Amino acid sequence: MAIIRPMRLADLKEVIQIEESSFPRPWSANTFLTQIAKDASICLVAEVDGRVVGYTIATQYVEVWHLLDLAVNKGYRRRYIATELLEQIFELCGQAKHRGYTLEVRKSNRGAIKMYESFGFICTGLRKGYYSDNGEDALIMWKDSEDMSA
Ligand SMILES: CC(C)(COP(=O)(O)OP(=O)(O)OC[C@H]1O[C@@H](n2cnc3c(N)ncnc32)[C@H](O)[C@@H]1OP(=O)(O)O)[C@@H](O)C(=O)NCCC(=O)NCCS
Repeated sequence: MAIIRPMRLADLKEVIQIEESSFPRPWSANTFLTQIAKDASICLVAEVDGRVVGYTIATQYVEVWHLLDLAVNKGYRRRYIATELLEQIFELCGQAKHRGYTLEVRKSNRGAIKMYESFGFICTGLRKGYYSDNGEDALIMWKDSEDMSA
């Protein structure tokens, strides 16, 4: 089991290493700093044996939570680290009224799509050519807040 806790500035070195090995267009350190400083954002890391092995960032615009970033160190994947991070995000976001959650994911990212679907996300649209590195489409996914789906 991982420890899930708020991201700190001191985590950024490990977070950026994971980010750079996970995405063709990784976020910069400044983008992480902006999110950490933002009241409307939740930035979490997963720690195993004192090491940061995954992280996620969600931010609220109006009444919707946007899942902006989620990655797990390659050597720690398929151990439910992302699942634990997402469960904690839903727990924290669910404390105040909102409409739901949205995210974009590469159409080819079958593993991530399967994981989001297991949490109740559904595909609601497509952004054609959304990813500038290869022109790939993004699926737009949506999940109702617990209040809305009750
Ligand atoms: C997507 C990612 C965050 C998943 O992290 P993870 O900790 O390995 O995910 P979990 O162990 O919590 O997976 C939970 C379930 O999701 C599904 N899943 C996750 N990764 C999968 C994969 N590569 N292939 C197929 N199913 C996958 C499975 O159903 C899995 O359950 P199972 O292992 O019992 O079959 C990780 O692969 C990653 O960092 N990828 C690169 C960055 C990325 O694509 N981020 C998402 C951007 S939208």
